[in-house]
Amino acid sequence: MNSKHTYFSVRSLWPVLGAWCVISAANAGDTNPDALLTQYQQAAGQKADRARGQKFFNASAANDLSCASCHGASPVQAGKHASTGKTIAPLAPLVNPDRFSDSAKVEKWFRRNCKDVLSRECTPLEKADVLVYLKDLK
Ligand code: HEC
Repeated sequence: MNSKHTYFSVRSLWPVLGAWCVISAANAGDTNPDALLTQYQQAAGQKADRARGQKFFNASAANDLSCASCHGASPVQAGKHASTGKTIAPLAPLVNPDRFSDSAKVEKWFRRNCKDVLSRECTPLEKADVLVYLKDLK
Protein backbone atom coordinates (compact mmCIF):
# COMPACT_ATOMS: atom_id res chain seq x y z
CA MET A 1 0.00 0.00 0.00
CA ASN A 2 2.83 2.28 0.82
CA SER A 3 4.59 1.75 -2.46
CA LYS A 4 1.35 2.35 -4.32
CA HIS A 5 0.97 5.66 -2.56
CA THR A 6 4.49 6.67 -3.41
CA TYR A 7 3.93 5.69 -7.00
CA PHE A 8 0.88 7.89 -7.29
CA SER A 9 2.37 10.90 -5.58
CA VAL A 10 5.50 10.83 -7.74
CA ARG A 11 3.41 10.43 -10.86
CA SER A 12 1.18 13.32 -9.91
CA LEU A 13 4.23 15.58 -9.78
CA TRP A 14 4.95 15.25 -13.49
CA PRO A 15 2.36 17.77 -14.71
CA VAL A 16 3.65 20.22 -12.12
CA LEU A 17 7.24 19.68 -13.20
CA GLY A 18 6.22 19.96 -16.84
CA ALA A 19 4.46 23.25 -16.25
CA TRP A 20 7.45 24.55 -14.30
CA CYS A 21 9.79 23.68 -17.18
CA VAL A 22 7.58 25.47 -19.69
CA ILE A 23 7.33 28.54 -17.48
CA SER A 24 11.05 28.74 -16.73
CA ALA A 25 11.95 28.13 -20.37
CA ALA A 26 9.66 31.02 -21.33
CA ASN A 27 11.26 33.23 -18.69
CA ALA A 28 14.75 32.34 -19.81
CA GLY A 29 14.12 33.64 -23.31
CA ASP A 30 11.69 36.51 -22.95
CA THR A 31 13.63 39.10 -24.93
CA ASN A 32 16.45 39.71 -27.43
CA PRO A 33 19.11 42.39 -27.99
CA ASP A 34 17.03 44.38 -30.50
CA ALA A 35 13.94 44.44 -28.31
CA LEU A 36 15.99 45.56 -25.31
CA LEU A 37 17.72 48.23 -27.33
CA THR A 38 14.37 49.63 -28.47
CA GLN A 39 13.19 49.65 -24.86
CA TYR A 40 16.28 51.46 -23.54
CA GLN A 41 16.23 54.01 -26.37
CA GLN A 42 12.58 54.74 -25.72
CA ALA A 43 13.24 55.17 -22.01
CA ALA A 44 16.22 57.42 -22.78
CA GLY A 45 14.36 59.43 -25.39
CA GLN A 46 17.37 59.29 -27.71
CA LYS A 47 19.41 57.04 -29.94
CA ALA A 48 22.23 54.89 -28.68
CA ASP A 49 25.77 55.48 -29.91
CA ARG A 50 28.20 52.63 -30.51
CA ALA A 51 31.41 54.63 -29.99
CA ARG A 52 30.07 56.12 -26.77
CA GLY A 53 29.15 52.60 -25.63
CA GLN A 54 32.63 51.29 -26.31
CA LYS A 55 34.16 54.21 -24.44
CA PHE A 56 31.82 53.71 -21.49
CA PHE A 57 32.60 49.99 -21.41
CA ASN A 58 36.34 50.59 -21.16
CA ALA A 59 36.36 53.71 -18.98
CA SER A 60 37.73 53.22 -15.49
CA ALA A 61 35.76 54.83 -12.71
CA ALA A 62 37.31 56.35 -9.59
CA ASN A 63 37.72 52.87 -8.06
CA ASP A 64 39.76 51.80 -11.12
CA LEU A 65 37.02 49.38 -12.21
CA SER A 66 35.49 49.33 -15.65
CA CYS A 67 33.13 46.93 -17.35
CA ALA A 68 36.20 45.61 -19.15
CA SER A 69 37.86 44.78 -15.80
CA CYS A 70 35.69 41.68 -15.63
CA HIS A 71 34.31 41.29 -19.13
CA GLY A 72 37.57 42.00 -20.95
CA ALA A 73 38.36 44.72 -23.49
CA SER A 74 37.21 42.29 -26.17
CA PRO A 75 33.68 41.19 -25.23
CA VAL A 76 33.67 38.52 -27.96
CA GLN A 77 36.07 36.62 -25.73
CA ALA A 78 35.56 35.27 -22.24
CA GLY A 79 36.32 37.66 -19.42
CA LYS A 80 37.80 37.08 -16.01
CA HIS A 81 36.23 38.37 -12.81
CA ALA A 82 38.48 41.10 -11.39
CA SER A 83 38.31 39.82 -7.81
CA THR A 84 37.41 36.11 -7.97
CA GLY A 85 39.33 35.27 -11.15
CA LYS A 86 36.37 33.23 -12.36
CA THR A 87 35.86 32.97 -16.10
CA ILE A 88 32.90 34.94 -17.43
CA ALA A 89 31.40 33.84 -20.75
CA PRO A 90 31.57 36.43 -23.56
CA LEU A 91 29.05 39.29 -23.37
CA ALA A 92 28.66 39.69 -27.13
CA PRO A 93 25.30 38.12 -28.05
CA LEU A 94 26.43 37.02 -31.53
CA VAL A 95 29.10 34.89 -29.85
CA ASN A 96 27.06 33.90 -26.80
CA PRO A 97 23.34 33.73 -27.73
CA ASP A 98 22.31 33.48 -24.05
CA ARG A 99 23.23 37.12 -23.60
CA PHE A 100 20.47 39.72 -23.58
CA SER A 101 17.81 37.03 -23.89
CA ASP A 102 16.44 37.15 -20.34
CA SER A 103 15.30 40.58 -19.20
CA ALA A 104 15.37 39.74 -15.49
CA LYS A 105 18.95 38.54 -15.76
CA VAL A 106 20.03 41.55 -17.81
CA GLU A 107 18.47 44.00 -15.35
CA LYS A 108 19.88 42.19 -12.34
CA TRP A 109 23.43 42.30 -13.66
CA PHE A 110 23.23 45.83 -15.04
CA ARG A 111 22.08 46.97 -11.61
CA ARG A 112 24.78 45.06 -9.77
CA ASN A 113 27.67 45.79 -12.13
CA CYS A 114 26.85 49.46 -12.59
CA LYS A 115 26.74 49.87 -8.82
CA ASP A 116 30.11 48.13 -8.51
CA VAL A 117 31.72 50.30 -11.15
CA LEU A 118 29.89 53.64 -10.89
CA SER A 119 28.36 53.43 -7.40
CA ARG A 120 25.00 54.09 -9.05
CA GLU A 121 22.70 52.43 -11.52
CA CYS A 122 23.31 52.90 -15.24
CA THR A 123 20.93 55.23 -17.05
CA PRO A 124 18.77 53.88 -19.88
CA LEU A 125 21.04 55.72 -22.33
CA GLU A 126 24.17 54.08 -20.90
CA LYS A 127 22.52 50.68 -21.18
CA ALA A 128 21.46 51.43 -24.76
CA ASP A 129 24.99 52.57 -25.65
CA VAL A 130 26.60 49.45 -24.16
CA LEU A 131 24.08 47.24 -25.89
CA VAL A 132 24.42 48.85 -29.31
CA TYR A 133 28.19 48.46 -28.95
CA LEU A 134 28.00 44.77 -27.91
CA LYS A 135 25.13 43.76 -30.15
CA ASP A 136 26.96 43.45 -33.47
CA LEU A 137 30.42 42.47 -32.24
CA LYS A 138 31.69 39.21 -33.62
C1 HEC B 1 33.42 42.82 -10.78
C2 HEC B 1 33.21 42.14 -12.05
C3 HEC B 1 32.26 42.78 -13.06
C4 HEC B 1 32.29 44.07 -13.53
C5 HEC B 1 33.24 45.19 -13.13
C6 HEC B 1 31.21 44.16 -14.49
N1 HEC B 1 30.57 42.96 -14.61
FE1 HEC B 1 28.97 42.53 -15.81
N2 HEC B 1 28.87 40.65 -15.05
C7 HEC B 1 29.73 40.13 -14.10
C8 HEC B 1 29.27 38.82 -13.72
C9 HEC B 1 29.93 37.90 -12.68
C10 HEC B 1 28.11 38.56 -14.48
C11 HEC B 1 27.21 37.33 -14.39
C12 HEC B 1 27.84 36.10 -14.85
C13 HEC B 1 27.56 35.85 -16.28
O1 HEC B 1 26.47 36.23 -16.75
O2 HEC B 1 28.43 35.27 -16.96
C14 HEC B 1 27.90 39.73 -15.32
C15 HEC B 1 26.85 39.87 -16.22
C16 HEC B 1 26.59 41.00 -16.95
C17 HEC B 1 25.46 41.16 -17.83
C18 HEC B 1 24.39 40.12 -18.10
C19 HEC B 1 24.21 39.88 -19.58
C20 HEC B 1 23.34 38.71 -19.92
O3 HEC B 1 22.34 38.88 -20.60
O4 HEC B 1 23.68 37.58 -19.52
C21 HEC B 1 25.54 42.44 -18.33
C22 HEC B 1 24.56 43.13 -19.28
C23 HEC B 1 26.71 43.05 -17.78
N3 HEC B 1 27.34 42.15 -16.94
C24 HEC B 1 27.14 44.34 -18.07
C25 HEC B 1 28.17 44.99 -17.42
C26 HEC B 1 28.47 46.40 -17.61
C27 HEC B 1 27.73 47.35 -18.53
C28 HEC B 1 29.52 46.69 -16.78
C29 HEC B 1 30.18 48.02 -16.56
C30 HEC B 1 29.33 49.09 -16.04
C31 HEC B 1 29.87 45.44 -16.09
N4 HEC B 1 29.02 44.44 -16.51
C32 HEC B 1 30.90 45.32 -15.17
C33 HEC B 1 30.84 40.75 -13.58
C34 HEC B 1 31.19 42.07 -13.76
